[in-house]
Amino acid sequence: MIDDLTRERILDAAKIEEVVSDYVSLRKRGVNYLGLCPFHSDRNPSFSVSPSKNLCKCFSCGEGGSPVHFIMKIEQLSYGDALRHLARKYGIEIQERELSDEEKKLKSDRESMFILNEFANEFFKNSLHNTIEGQTVALSYFRHRGIRPETMQKFQLGYAPEERSALSDEALRKGFKTEYLVGTGLSLQYEDSKGLHDRFRGRVIFPIQTVSGKVVGFGGRIMAKKDKVAKYVNSPESIIYSKSRELYGLFLAKKEIARKDKCFLVEGYTDVISMHQSGIENVVSSSGTALTLQQINQIHRFTSNITVLYDGDAAGIKAALRGINLLLEQGLHVKVVLLPDGEDPDSFARNHTAAEFEKYIEKHETDFIRFKTQLFLEDMMRDPIRRAQLITDIIGSIALIPDDITRRVYVQETGQTLSMDEQLLAREVQKMRLRGTSYSSVPTAPPSVTTPTPDTTPVNLPQSAAGETGDRMVEVETPTSQPRQLSYPTIYEEELLRLIVTYGERKLATHHPAGSETETPHSTVALAYYVKADLSADGVDIGSDIFKQML
Ligand code: CTP
Ligand code: MN
Repeated sequence: MIDDLTRERILDAAKIEEVVSDYVSLRKRGVNYLGLCPFHSDRNPSFSVSPSKNLCKCFSCGEGGSPVHFIMKIEQLSYGDALRHLARKYGIEIQERELSDEEKKLKSDRESMFILNEFANEFFKNSLHNTIEGQTVALSYFRHRGIRPETMQKFQLGYAPEERSALSDEALRKGFKTEYLVGTGLSLQYEDSKGLHDRFRGRVIFPIQTVSGKVVGFGGRIMAKKDKVAKYVNSPESIIYSKSRELYGLFLAKKEIARKDKCFLVEGYTDVISMHQSGIENVVSSSGTALTLQQINQIHRFTSNITVLYDGDAAGIKAALRGINLLLEQGLHVKVVLLPDGEDPDSFARNHTAAEFEKYIEKHETDFIRFKTQLFLEDMMRDPIRRAQLITDIIGSIALIPDDITRRVYVQETGQTLSMDEQLLAREVQKMRLRGTSYSSVPTAPPSVTTPTPDTTPVNLPQSAAGETGDRMVEVETPTSQPRQLSYPTIYEEELLRLIVTYGERKLATHHPAGSETETPHSTVALAYYVKADLSADGVDIGSDIFKQML
């Protein structure tokens, strides 16, 4: 049987639009897709696919459902076999066997930890609203920051009391096990002292929910600035929480992201909350770290349009540049809005109405590549020597865009802005693509970018965040730590196969190596065979299954 963890991975990976489009040609219609229903003879497209719900449905015959149901129906498979089918499609390995005792334990461990987190969430909310300590220090803190009661409810904000082990004691009394208190990171166990200590003490609490609303972790903020005390303490990684997977606010934002077909990306918890409160709800935060592939994929389920909203200061610009190449590479359309100097989305949202905020965004929203080119242009004027380096950098970003047409548009525009020959630029972009500097698959450091600010700390895309904020507790997630999926075509393979498909039948004159000229000077061979022979002579194998078949 397929164990739960693997099943969850498959269900997480399976995107309805990708699954359906293996059988039906789909067209984008608003936030959804539409195509001819494969289950009845359909003349007008009535088969609707909703990425945000991850469901499909035929308006005419009523057939449809989740990705698994779709596969079960169309391939006539059992539930288990449909899962296996999807696992193959997404390169997920399935171990076919009985759940071991260990796995059974892991499963029940996860469930226990969810229940414990739910308990802790209630505990924190209760301490905020119904204890004197919470009301005097924490509720007044939130009020002071302009957070309204209904917003506190919506985000389930809470307070962790100062006392050493208030939560731990209460949880143990309620029968929760030490193992899970420590496992979720809610409690700490020190060798040299008896009993448990609470991780979160004297802090306001922001619960972190998964896309489906489960509380998997917490962030706790101190209320008054203290030296040597971290501003935020966060839940540690556990079998239910991975910081690099979750996006703060996604559960509350997903509907609006789909409806607006756009997602705002901000830095912190309070940015998300203030924007919601001002009426802009399609907003998530990567909690101060560089974006990861997993987070990007989560957003991609709801929209392809991301607008990164950052402070207008040097650090803000750096943060905005960080990680964006990864977004481009995934085919997302990225825009940037810089806020006025000294403002972050939180302060801006508090001091402006939603209408003003939206107007500001509309006016200042710049396409990322354009933004970067403009930024660099000013820098190049000042320092012509760095021109080449900056151009290379921009080419690097353009080269990552998967869509040919979009890429061409950028080449054109960038050529004009930088007064460069378009053809040359296009060639450089193509070369860069062939070199295959893929941010998600090649474990090498990408080229560095320098922002045009007096502070010229190089910003590595996208793994640069380390050490940017001294007091930051979080580890930086590098997308390159993802395991490389070998069944996924590389840029080399893609380019090679493109050439073969387009020109494979053309005859080539092959030159014999020098010295053998006395015999036949040339012989002709079809390009496809030449490539195949050359690959096998070099002992090179095509990694991607589909390309292997094509070849
Ligand atoms: N962060 C963190 N640990 C820190 C500092 C920051 O985890 N020591 C994360 C938090 O998710 C935080 C985000 O990075 O929300 C952005 O950091 P920062 O801008 O410093 O915090 P704000 O959210 O703006 O908080 P505030 O406005 O309350 O200062
Ligand atoms: Mn802030």
